[in-house]
Amino acid sequence: MRPAAVVVAILFGVSLAGCDRLPGRARAREQRETVSPQVATFHALYKQQCAGCHGRDGRLGAARPLNDAVYLGLVPAPRLRQVIAEGVPGTAQPAFAIGAGGTLTDEQIDALVQGLLAAWARPAAMQGVSIPPYTAKLGNPERGSEVYAAACAGCHGADGRGGPKARSVVDASYLALVSDQHLRTTVIAGRADVGMPDWRGHIAGRALAPQEISDVVAWLVTKRKPVPGRAGGV
Ligand code: HEC
Ligand code: HEC
Repeated sequence: MRPAAVVVAILFGVSLAGCDRLPGRARAREQRETVSPQVATFHALYKQQCAGCHGRDGRLGAARPLNDAVYLGLVPAPRLRQVIAEGVPGTAQPAFAIGAGGTLTDEQIDALVQGLLAAWARPAAMQGVSIPPYTAKLGNPERGSEVYAAACAGCHGADGRGGPKARSVVDASYLALVSDQHLRTTVIAGRADVGMPDWRGHIAGRALAPQEISDVVAWLVTKRKPVPGRAGGV
């Protein structure tokens, strides 16, 4: 299999296998009995609920690394909580709050949010770094195509279909599985665990400007085919 196919297969496998093998909403009843608030320490919860997708120790999973100081400096804590509690509709990220059909109490979700930051954030290392905004409207795809050529093509190939250093980012099956925010998060925070730089490392000598980030994300989004059942702009 080509690397692109492998990643898509992993993501599909993860979402389909979620019911039996990976923690997720389908195990609600069983989990409620086995996960007591007393054992709700971050590492135990992480291992049980998140490691299957986000990787042991928060790295090298199919889903993005969470053991990542740049990402944890980027994402607002209320957004972390929202993703864990409510999931990301239309993607493999499950909703964990009991009220949303999941298995975790509010206390357990708080333990995850606080534990992620306590274990893996590095506020000192990120001090004085001006990180681009976590969210923003999509920019201009035509300008985004120029940003792509300057910042991404060297690794992902001239047309985005894969290059010497990285796989396709325009594969319709891949784009169907991830949200616009995931693309934005990836452009800003990179994927240090697999060699994708953050926004400071795409172009030699300078960081991407916030507008360039919004533009290149808009360009990627134009490559997605409409996904049934998903509202636009998610
Ligand atoms: C130095 C090489 C390099 C550069 C520059 C680079 N990437 Fe990547 N990117 C990677 C690697 C390596 C991966 C991991 C997957 C793979 O092997 O292709 C990756 C993964 C991705 C993913 C998938 C992430 C996921 O987990 O879903 C997206 C989307 C992406 N890159 C977009 C971009 C965009 C947009 C740019 C330009 C702004 C860019 N990349 C610049 C190397 C690079
Ligand atoms: C079945 C696989 C799966 C499991 C289990 C899972 N995730 Fe995720 N997670 C994903 C995917 C896929 C995404 C990307 C969603 C998207 O496209 O926006 C994601 C995205 C996220 C994000 C948002 C990244 C961003 O763009 O800001 C956070 C935070 C997160 N997950 C935390 C967790 C935590 C904490 C757990 C455990 C409680 C967990 N996830 C369990 C697959 C999973």
